[in-house]
Amino acid sequence: MLGQGVRIVNVAVIGTGYVGLVTGTCLAHTGNQVVCVDINPEIVAKLNAGEIPIFEPGLAELVRANRAAGRLSFTLDFAPAVETARLIFVAVPTPELPSGHVGMHYVNKVVDDVAGVFRHHPLSRPILVLKSTVPPGTNRRVADRLTAAGCAHVAVASNPEFLKEGAAVDDFMKPDRVIVGVRDSLSAEILRELYEPYCSSDRPFVVMSPESAEMTKYAANAFLATKISFINEIANLCEATGADVNRVREGIGYDARIGTQFLAPGAGYGGSCFPKDVKGLIAVGRRLGVALRVAEAVDAANDVQKELLFTKIYRHFGGEVAGKTIAIWGLAFKPKTDDIREAPALTLIDALLAANARVQAFDPQAMTNVKKLYSDAITYADSPLAALDGADALALVTEWPEFRSPDFHEVRRRLRSLVIFDGRNLFAPQETTLRELGFRYYGVGRGER
Ligand SMILES: NC(=O)c1ccc[n+]([C@@H]2O[C@H](COP(=O)([O-])OP(=O)(O)OC[C@H]3O[C@@H](n4cnc5c(N)ncnc54)[C@H](O)[C@@H]3O)[C@@H](O)[C@H]2O)c1
Repeated sequence: MLGQGVRIVNVAVIGTGYVGLVTGTCLAHTGNQVVCVDINPEIVAKLNAGEIPIFEPGLAELVRANRAAGRLSFTLDFAPAVETARLIFVAVPTPELPSGHVGMHYVNKVVDDVAGVFRHHPLSRPILVLKSTVPPGTNRRVADRLTAAGCAHVAVASNPEFLKEGAAVDDFMKPDRVIVGVRDSLSAEILRELYEPYCSSDRPFVVMSPESAEMTKYAANAFLATKISFINEIANLCEATGADVNRVREGIGYDARIGTQFLAPGAGYGGSCFPKDVKGLIAVGRRLGVALRVAEAVDAANDVQKELLFTKIYRHFGGEVAGKTIAIWGLAFKPKTDDIREAPALTLIDALLAANARVQAFDPQAMTNVKKLYSDAITYADSPLAALDGADALALVTEWPEFRSPDFHEVRRRLRSLVIFDGRNLFAPQETTLRELGFRYYGVGRGER
């Protein structure tokens, strides 16, 4: 446990998904008394039975330890959980609506439930901390909603979350920065104390207005998405010019102003954040009459990039994809998570099924989630190699480390025809070997000359 000597705070976390469960667990680990609330009985039952409903490295052990220490509990019962809390973190979904706007119904429900409890406790001074990613102006609207419901004594702070799935515990414990948007200095001080164990001179605690904090989250995600769409388009041009995007990345990455991160080309970005946050930012701009042409281009470029693998497959087979069997390695939107929201693999599966191809898939963690979507429309293999049996090609979509160095002799034995579509350039270092073994190898932005 970290942070002995730091004041213990009663914390309620509303929403026990990727963000809420990590937040609650990590806050308990520094000694706080944390109750996590969810509306999904299955999730709460699992957590109370010692199971973790999501896959996130290191999380299961931490949940177990903090439950055993009596600092972390899970409940469906909202009112008792929040009544005694000094801090109430909101970590519920803010999904994209068909209009591109951000769906606020989950957040509003929590705000109304909070008001339902605290209108009877006028002397309580809880702080509602918005951790869900919400459009700029939400903090103000939530404060107004609480005031209208007789709860002006509930403060509202914004505390956007920057964790990366697959490294979420580490990111929470050692954040690049903690951003807090507040309107009163007491909220800032209480949050500063709470986050003190995780912050240091090079991991700063940064206080700003709620509007700036809300904007910071969108600006960060839109910028990272921009880097990805940028390098994807450069990769496409590399293919057309005969350049190798890996060398180009190296060439630009040495420039300290550019750096190397988020410059790996691939089959497009997915996940629960980048696609919806870029669209959410565009929607905010439209509402306020501010053009966000870069964000619009980033979004459009990504939609095209997610079709890249199918386009390559289609071209390779001369349009004759019907009846072909494609093995897919990697279904999660990125490695080390079971999250498949907006995953490029789903775009590929949809396109293959629409073209009457068959799919044999494997993922180390995401198969259960994919089964819920596709049921028996595709085949699920027990191992990466089993997915190849009798397949006409392998498409690698997610760069799980376990896919990095397969026995290519065995791959050759199992595939019906020797074709690899590598949507992450994972096998680029073995490209010569692949060619010597007789494979036709398609990377992204290279390797097709
Ligand atoms: N997943 C990420 O990597 C990430 C990173 C940063 C920010 N965010 C943002 O954090 C928020 C949550 O994302 P997530 O990925 O953790 O979502 P999630 O879908 O994994 O989890 C949300 C949980 O909230 C629960 N819930 C919904 N309404 C509720 C209510 N009224 N009371 C209690 N529980 C309720 C759901 O049952 C679910 O378990 C979103 O706004 C997202 O944009 C996510």
